[in-house]
Amino acid sequence: MSASGNPFLAAIESRISCYSLTKTSPIPDSRLQEIVNTVIQHTPSPFNVQSARAVVLLHDNHDAFWDTADARVKESVPEAVYQALSQRIAGFKAAYGSVLFFEDQGALEELGSKNASVQHMLAEGSHHSSGMHQFAVWTALELEGLGCNLQHYNFLPSIVDAVKEKWNLPSTWALHAQLVFGAPDEAAGGLVRKRERTYLPLEERVRVLGA
Ligand SMILES: Cc1cc2nc3c(=O)[nH]c(=O)nc-3n(C[C@H](O)[C@H](O)[C@H](O)COP(=O)(O)O)c2cc1C
Repeated sequence: MSASGNPFLAAIESRISCYSLTKTSPIPDSRLQEIVNTVIQHTPSPFNVQSARAVVLLHDNHDAFWDTADARVKESVPEAVYQALSQRIAGFKAAYGSVLFFEDQGALEELGSKNASVQHMLAEGSHHSSGMHQFAVWTALELEGLGCNLQHYNFLPSIVDAVKEKWNLPSTWALHAQLVFGAPDEAAGGLVRKRERTYLPLEERVRVLGA
């Protein structure tokens, strides 16, 4: 199937995980903020609860996040695991910035308390909505010439606690993901797939009934 003729589908098709990133950006920080603002404002959420929160970490703040992640991982996992993760973390730190995606549990609880009939859907809906936000920012940044990869260093509660303390974030914000971004390292191949992605047969994954 070709995405030709539809720029949205073409952007979905070309998006990749890019790990060789540099400390430069092809767009100004103001444009980065505009993109994140647009995604946060317009991406859907369950019952329009608008529980997504984003923190864009640039420059020293980006470095500080990944330094914190490294320190907390070091004190929490066996040395061999740390050695492997530390190398990866150094790669993330070498990028230009990170977008941290949160979901405000306070907003979700408030909606649930006002409308008990929707309460059971909110936890899953919050995850779905966060994923939509992550995908939208990822794809939008790539369209601007940035490379991105998606990380989940919220697996360690001590990292989440440190982040909230350092940047004085509300205790109700639950960290879901980190999107690392930067200009792709052209010497390492730029925004090109390193490994050919394999695809399961679409006939097994999509059923159209009644066409
Ligand atoms: C929900 C989700 C979680 C992911 N978690 C990670 C992760 O923790 N670390 C990572 O390097 N990539 C992560 N990825 C990236 C996937 O491994 C990647 O998108 C997939 O292998 C397809 O490769 P592509 O992004 O180049 O198309 C995640 C992707 C999704 C959608």
